[in-house]
Amino acid sequence: MKKILIIHGPNLNLLGTREPAVYGKITLAQINRKLQSLAKSKKISIKIVQSNLEGEIVELIGKTRGKFDGILINPAAYTHTSVAIRDAIAASELPTVEVHLSNIYTREEFRHKSLISPVAKGTIMGFGLDSYLLGLLALLDIIE
Ligand code: DQA
Repeated sequence: MKKILIIHGPNLNLLGTREPAVYGKITLAQINRKLQSLAKSKKISIKIVQSNLEGEIVELIGKTRGKFDGILINPAAYTHTSVAIRDAIAASELPTVEVHLSNIYTREEFRHKSLISPVAKGTIMGFGLDSYLLGLLALLDIIE
């Protein structure tokens, strides 16, 4: 059975009440339930982690080798700042799909640069919950 690590970055634990005009009213628990049911229907196993700490995310990715077949990540604000997460993904050599709820190119200029995209197989953004679901399907296509 294929195993995917799903990582939600900083402040995504606040979804539901966090800037609903940008991120909608969906909560992280609701997103996770949809991911779990998609994983079940595709007969894959997923581990879901949310962290507000850059170092914790780096450590998590650093331990994926041999344990997971791919990574689905919404790096949140670290998308735009974290060389450490980018390097961890590159070092893992695992196929990685980057997702965002919002379209970062329609937002503030400081969000227009992703340090993660160059080490991701692809990026899906702007579709809210569907960014995650489409991202998981795309990742499965790559690893199966
Ligand atoms: C985000 C976009 C980022 O710019 C922002 O910092 C987030 C969420 C998204 O999913 O749209 O926290 O990754």
